[in-house]
Amino acid sequence: MDGATLEHQHKGRMTKEGIRIHETADFEGMHAAGALAAQILDEIADEVAPGVTTGALDQIITDKVNDTGAKSATIGYKGYQHASCISVNHVVCHGIPGPKVLKDGDILNIDVTVIVDGWFGDTSRMYVAGRPNRKAERLIQVTHDALFKGIEQVKPGNTFGDIGAAIQKYVESNRMSVVRDFCGHGLGRVFHAPPNVLHYGRPGTNATLEEGMFFTIEPMVNLGRPETKVLPDDWTAVTRDRSLSAQFEHSVGVTSDGVEIFTLSPSGKFHPTYG
Ligand code: MF3
Ligand code: CO
Ligand code: CO
Repeated sequence: MDGATLEHQHKGRMTKEGIRIHETADFEGMHAAGALAAQILDEIADEVAPGVTTGALDQIITDKVNDTGAKSATIGYKGYQHASCISVNHVVCHGIPGPKVLKDGDILNIDVTVIVDGWFGDTSRMYVAGRPNRKAERLIQVTHDALFKGIEQVKPGNTFGDIGAAIQKYVESNRMSVVRDFCGHGLGRVFHAPPNVLHYGRPGTNATLEEGMFFTIEPMVNLGRPETKVLPDDWTAVTRDRSLSAQFEHSVGVTSDGVEIFTLSPSGKFHPTYG
């Protein structure tokens, strides 16, 4: 290990829960990585349509990542071979792009993680091929708003339990369910770090948020029951009851008085446009 790498590893400090506290200058690195990931999600919106394959969407994303000189964090990650995860309808997360052809009314999550100057930007959004039915549209809206209920809790002194509780309360008050089997995660110069960011829980529990923590919030919400199972490909997670599932993800940092969302859409888009 060279000196520069060693220095990076020791910069900042770690909480007793193993959560890294980053320095003020590190926010710029996360902002750049987050903005690129979000820009790719902005641009792919125009390509989503009935008749398009998820593999074709992933190829466009791969080209966009390569064109910017950034790196995909997912290609080669634990053997994963694609620049995105594309999760259609009852797929909860980690859908593998491939020959699947989108049809009118399909809803899909596209999740992209890029590495820019060593910093990881991880974000996902929902898209619709053609027009969604009313239930699907409501699921997408509730999931999006649940993410922001969580983000509203991000400030020094609050806890990770406050984030999870706010998301769970909102989702269940809309008679939908929060997936328990997957969670958000710390990130920064690494893809997945402590803590596990649960999207359910009780206020005041778990680690206390401190300025300089970087993590994702990425709730998965089902129209039916929360249980999932992983298909034999070892990646694709689906709802056990085959009900529709949706997800939105942002990478965020705790500031002195609140939150910076690193993966906000540079063009001001976030929610999918229908039709
Ligand atoms: N981007 C996903 C997340 O939100 C992780 C995908 S890992 C992959 O954490 F290997 F499936 F791509
Ligand atoms: Co993530
Ligand atoms: Co992600």
